[in-house]
Amino acid sequence: MAATLDTRVTRYEAPSKVTGGTRYAADYMPSGMLHGALATSSIAVGEVVSIDTSTAESEPGVIAVFTHENIADYKQPKGFYQGGPGTASFWPMTSTSIRYAGQPVAYVVAENAAAARRGAALVSVKYETGDASIHMDPESSFLLESEGMNVTKGDVAAGIAQATAVVDETWTTPFQHHNPMEMFAATAEWNGERLTVWTPSQSVRTARGGVAMAYDIAETAVEIISPFVGGAFGSKAGLPPYTMLTIAVAKSLGAPVRLIVTRPQMFTVASFRPESVQKIRLAATADGQFTAFEHIEIGQTSQFDPVVNPGTHMTRAMYASPNIYTEQRLARSDTNTPGFMRAPNEMQSFFALESAVDELAWKLDMDPVELRRKNDTQRHPVADVPFSSRSLMECYDAAAASFGWSERESKVGSMVDGDWLVGYGCATATYPTAVAPSEARVRVQSSGHALVELAAHDVGTGAYTIMGQIAAQRLGLPVGAVDVAMGNSNLPVAPLAGGSVTSASSGSAVHLACMNAGADIARTLTQMDGNPLSGLDHSTVTLVDGVLQGPGNESISLLEALKLTPRGEVTAEGRYAHPDLSSQALRATYKGGYGVAGPVTDKHAMFAFGAEFAEVHIHRWTKEIRVPRLHGAFAAGNILNRKTAHSQLMGGMVWGIGSALHEHTLVDTERARFLNSNIAEYLIPVNADIRDIKVEMLDEHDDYVNPLGVKGIGELGIVGTAAAIANGIYHATGQRLRSLPFTIADMV
Ligand code: MOS
Repeated sequence: MAATLDTRVTRYEAPSKVTGGTRYAADYMPSGMLHGALATSSIAVGEVVSIDTSTAESEPGVIAVFTHENIADYKQPKGFYQGGPGTASFWPMTSTSIRYAGQPVAYVVAENAAAARRGAALVSVKYETGDASIHMDPESSFLLESEGMNVTKGDVAAGIAQATAVVDETWTTPFQHHNPMEMFAATAEWNGERLTVWTPSQSVRTARGGVAMAYDIAETAVEIISPFVGGAFGSKAGLPPYTMLTIAVAKSLGAPVRLIVTRPQMFTVASFRPESVQKIRLAATADGQFTAFEHIEIGQTSQFDPVVNPGTHMTRAMYASPNIYTEQRLARSDTNTPGFMRAPNEMQSFFALESAVDELAWKLDMDPVELRRKNDTQRHPVADVPFSSRSLMECYDAAAASFGWSERESKVGSMVDGDWLVGYGCATATYPTAVAPSEARVRVQSSGHALVELAAHDVGTGAYTIMGQIAAQRLGLPVGAVDVAMGNSNLPVAPLAGGSVTSASSGSAVHLACMNAGADIARTLTQMDGNPLSGLDHSTVTLVDGVLQGPGNESISLLEALKLTPRGEVTAEGRYAHPDLSSQALRATYKGGYGVAGPVTDKHAMFAFGAEFAEVHIHRWTKEIRVPRLHGAFAAGNILNRKTAHSQLMGGMVWGIGSALHEHTLVDTERARFLNSNIAEYLIPVNADIRDIKVEMLDEHDDYVNPLGVKGIGELGIVGTAAAIANGIYHATGQRLRSLPFTIADMV
C-alpha cells in the first residue's frame, strides 16, 4: 500500500492557463493550414433534394465546398454501440438522409476562418421535410435487454403489501448540453500515409485506433495530439463526424485543415445528456425498513443508437431491500445520438431516488438521515457482495454536523428569514469506482530529473500534477523535478478520461512504473560490488519514498544508486489492470475500445459515497429560488491531492445547483430543434448563484480498489445535489417538484 500523499499541490500549469499561455489543440497551426466551416441542416428529418454551392464557391477566399455528392476519402469508424469510437453510428454527409436538426450537410474550406464561415452561410440546400419529434414518447419505450441489465429480486408487489408507507411517483429530467469553454475543434495534416490530428480528446488512443482502422493504415501512422483539454465532461470522449470530415478534406486538398465548431453547432454535432423519465416505487414498514424498491428508467436515444446510461444499476446498489425490481428502457426521437455528460446516469437517477427517499421519510414522519441509516448496507443488495468500503453514514454524520442539520425545524414551512421561506434538504451522492487498464513509462536520471509518460488526459482536473506527485513521492524527488507528458497517442496506452477513472487507473500505472524502476536499479546494484546493496537478493530490496531498502538496515537513495550505474539513469514501464477485472477490459483498451470496467467484481462492489445538505430559500412573493448553502462530505478512498480534489467536488456541486435551478436545453417542438444553443441563453450558475459551498473529504482506506486506494471523484459531487435542493424546497414550501430544472414558474 502506497503512502498517502495528502498534499495540496497547485496545478503546475495554472499560471500558464490563467495568463493565456497554454496551447490547446486548436492553437497548433501547421504551415499552409486552410480553414474549415460546417453548414448544418435547418430541418430535423428528411432528404436533401439538392445543394447549390455555387454562391459559396464564388465567395472570396473560399477554396472548396464539400457535400455528400463530392466528398472523397471520407471514412467512418464504427459507432460506440457497435464497439467502435464513433460518437454515433449514423454519419452525416454519406447520403441525402437528414436524421437530426443541425446535422452537417456541407464542409467549406477557405483561406481564412471568416471566409469559411461566410461560405458556409451561403450554401443553399433544398430539402424534402419529414415528420420529426425531438421529445421521446415514453409510451413508445422498449426494454433494454442484456445480461444484468434488468433485475428481479424477491417480489416487489409482496413487499409493497407489507408496507406502511409507499411512494409511487415519476420524475423527469431535461436535455442538457456540456458546453465546455474550449470549443470542439480538429486540425488534420497528412504527410503521405501519415496523419496528425490536433483535437481536444478524452481518449487519444481510442481515437488513434478508430482513425487507423477507418483508413486501414498502421496505428503508428496516426498521431492524435491533445495536450490540454479546456473542459470535456463527456463531450470529447468519442470520434465525431467533424473530426472525420476534417481528416477527409485535408486528404482531398493535400493541405492541413482546421475546423473550429461554432457554439451553436456544438449543440448538434457531438453529444448531450438525454432527457429521462424515472418511475420509482419505494415502500417501508412503520419503523422505516424498506420492503420494496422498484425503479423503471426511460432514457431518450436517437433513431439509430441505443444509448445505455443505466441509472437503475446505481440506484439498486444504494439501500438494503428484500424486494427489488429495476428496468432500463429507451425511447427514440429525432436527435443526434446522446452520450455521456458528467455523471451520465447518476445525476438523473439520484434526483429521483433521493427525492423518493425524502418523500417516504415525510410519510413515515422520520428524519430522512435516519431513514437512510436504517437502510444502509455494507453489501450490494443485488450483486450480494460486500462493498470494498462504504462510508455513506460517516458522510451523513460529518455533513449534518457541519451544516447544522439538528437545527432544522421538522415541519413544513416552519423556518423563515424575512420574506424568504427556508428549507433544509439532504441527499446521497455516489459514483462507481470503475477502473481501466493503463500503462505508464518513467525515466529517472541521476541528476534528479524524472519524466513520466502516458497517453492519459488532463481535462482540466489536475491530472498532470497528480501523476507528477505520485512519481515524485515514489522516487523521492520534489514535484517540480518530475515532468509529465500526456495527451499524445504515441505515449504508452492509457484509458479515456471518462467514468472518473484517470487517477485510479493511470495513477496506479505510474506507481507501478516507479516501483519497477526501483526494482531494476536494485537488481543492478545487488550485482555490483562496493555499495550497500552488494550481494543482496534483489527481490528483498524495496523502494520506499526514493530510498532502496534491503531486508537489514541496508539503504541507498535511488539517485545515489543511479550514479553508481554505468548509464546513470533508468527507464521502466508500469502496467496496471485490476486483477478481478483485467481480461475483458484489457482486450478492449488495447484494441482501441473503451476498457473501463467495474464497479462490481466477484468479490466486491466499489463505489465512492457522499452526503449533500442544501439550505434553500424561496422568496415568499417572487418565488425566486436560492441556495445560500450547500455542504457535502465525501468518502472516496485515498485523496491524492486535497486541493484538486476539493475543486473537483466543489465543481460538481456547483454543477448540481445548475442542474436543479438553471440547466435546460429548450426545444422547438414544431421543428425538432434545440433552441437556446448559446451560452447566453443556456443557463448555468454564475458567481451570484453560488454562496457558501463546503466540501469535506473523509479519510477512507480501501486496499481493494487499486494499489493507490483511490476512488474517482470527477463526477461524484454533482450526484444528489438536485434532490437535496428539491427536498429543501419541500421543507420550505410543502411543494414537491419532480421535474428538472426548478424555476419560478414551477412554484405556486
Ligand atoms: Mo465523463 S461523462 O465520464 O466524460
